Amino acid sequence: MGKVVAIANQKGGVGKTTTAINLGASLAILEKRVLLIDADPQANCSSGLGIDVHHLENSIYSCMISGLDPSKAIHSTDTPNLDIIPSHIDLVGAEIEIVSRLRREYILKGVIDKVKDDYDYIIIDCMPSLGLLTLNALTAADSVLIPLQTEIFALEGLSKLKNTIRLVQEQLNPDLKIEGVVLSMFDRRLRLGKIVVKEVQDNSKDYVFDTIIHRNSKISEAPNMQVPVLLYAITSKGSRNFLKLAKEFLSRNEEGSVVSNDNKSEAVEK
Ligand SMILES: Nc1ncnc2c1ncn2[C@@H]1O[C@H](COP(=O)(O)OP(=O)(O)O)[C@@H](O)[C@H]1O
Ligand SMILES: [Mg+2]
Repeated sequence: MGKVVAIANQKGGVGKTTTAINLGASLAILEKRVLLIDADPQANCSSGLGIDVHHLENSIYSCMISGLDPSKAIHSTDTPNLDIIPSHIDLVGAEIEIVSRLRREYILKGVIDKVKDDYDYIIIDCMPSLGLLTLNALTAADSVLIPLQTEIFALEGLSKLKNTIRLVQEQLNPDLKIEGVVLSMFDRRLRLGKIVVKEVQDNSKDYVFDTIIHRNSKISEAPNMQVPVLLYAITSKGSRNFLKLAKEFLSRNEEGSVVSNDNKSEAVEK
C-alpha cells in the first residue's frame, strides 16, 4: 500500500509545487511508482507537467465533489512511473461545496484509498492555506513534508503549521507524522540564508532533511517546458539536489534500501 505524503506550508511561493513535482519525478526515476495529487486550484503542479488545465474533464475536483472514480482522473506524464490527478480552477469552490457534508475532512482520504494500492508513494501538492482542502490532505496523509524558504520569519510560519498538524493529530488523523522540513531556494550568496538554515537545523534537529535545495534557474525554467527539472536539465544542480533529496527520503522510509545515505558531507554544498 502506498505511503501518502502531503506537501504543505500555508505560505505561497516557498517551493511546495516544485518539491511535489521534482521529488515525485526523482522517486519515479528511482523506480518507485508515484502518483501526484494536485490539491491547489491554481493547478501549477498540473500545468508544470504538461496537463492542459483549461480543457480538463476529470480532475481531483470531480473525484471529491461528484464521486468520480479516481482511476478515471489519473493522467500519465512524460516521466516514466509518474502519474498525476490534476487540479482544476473549480477546486476553489470545493471548500464551500463540502463544508456542509458529513465527515467533510475525510473526502480526499476516501478518494485516495481507492488508488493507494497501485502506487509506492502518493504525493499531495497542497494550496497555500490551512483551509478545508489542506485539512483534507493532512487527514488523508501518512506524513507531511514541509518546504521552508530560507528567509527571515520562516520559523514563525513553521510554528503555526506545527500547531495545525498537532490539531489534526488530535482530532482527525492520530497517525499523521512529520516527514521532515526541506530547506528550499537556498542562496549561498546571502548571509541571511545561512543564518536561517542554522536556526531551522537547531530548532528541528530531528526532522530537517540534510539535503538542501539550492536556488537554481533550471528549476524555475522547467515548468515552462512542462517537465520536471530532471527531464529538462539532468546535469543541473537542481536535478542533483532533488535526486539527492529523493535518496535521503527513501533511506528514511525504506529499511534495507540500497540507496546510499552519504548526504551529510554535501549537505550545505559548496
Ligand atoms: N530551488 C529553486 N530555484 C529557483 N526557483 C525556484 C526554486 N524553487 C521554486 N522556485 C520558483 O519559485 C516559485 C515558487 O515556487 P513554488 O514551488 O510554485 O511554490 P509554492 O507551491 O509553495 O507556491 C516558482 O516560480 C518556482 O519555479
Ligand atoms: Mg504551489
